[in-house]
Amino acid sequence: MVDSSHKAAPVIAIDGPTASGKGTVAGLVAKQLGFYYLDSGAIYRVLGVAAQGAGLSIDIPEHHAPLVNLAANMPVSFVGEQVVLNGQDVSGAIRTEQAGVLASRMAVDPQIRAALLQRQRNFRQPPGLVADGRDMGSVVFPDAILKVFLTASAQVRAERRVKQIEGRGQRADFDAIYQDLLARDKRDTERAVAPLKPCDDAKVLDCSDIGVDQVVQTILKWALQAL
Ligand code: DC
Repeated sequence: MVDSSHKAAPVIAIDGPTASGKGTVAGLVAKQLGFYYLDSGAIYRVLGVAAQGAGLSIDIPEHHAPLVNLAANMPVSFVGEQVVLNGQDVSGAIRTEQAGVLASRMAVDPQIRAALLQRQRNFRQPPGLVADGRDMGSVVFPDAILKVFLTASAQVRAERRVKQIEGRGQRADFDAIYQDLLARDKRDTERAVAPLKPCDDAKVLDCSDIGVDQVVQTILKWALQAL
């Protein structure tokens, strides 16, 4: 049996809005510490892709129960960088803007969030976990030894998202991405359950004007003080 206690498997929670760079930062912090890494947004995104594949919509009341069931039972595994759903590689499919929007819309539902809770907690294993998302410090791992809220201005985040998409060889429309990001922020911030906001014991880090290396170093310094 894995010892996932607070001491044997400490958690560092990195929360923040979309495109704040949490994924990159959390991955690097995990690597430096030799910890496991949880990209909780990927789980919500996989649900978006799985629901679409199953023809289920969050807008149709009769689809609600099957969606909650899908959230609890969809066979998903994370193999290195690869995300596998039902034996299919969905690593690319979950990164589209459409999958992000679907994820954000499903994430509003309390029963769906509850169904995904244990799946996320299962990532906690010795020697420790760096978890990135919206509610890692507030709901999923309230006993995290370090809680960071990583943010950046909407302008900077939209610019980063454009670079990311163009880096994949795809075309990106800044205005559409900027508007989508504002809508997503609004939905994530205003939802009744686990809204996106820094918890009282979180350290807020605005990375609009600082590079990834500096953000990682700052978090590592805090982590070493907390461990
Ligand atoms: O971080 P991301 O953009 O990959 O997340 C996609 C959506 O999933 C996000 O808009 C809201 C939802 N999400 C959430 O509600 N809680 C989390 N811990 C992670 C993601």
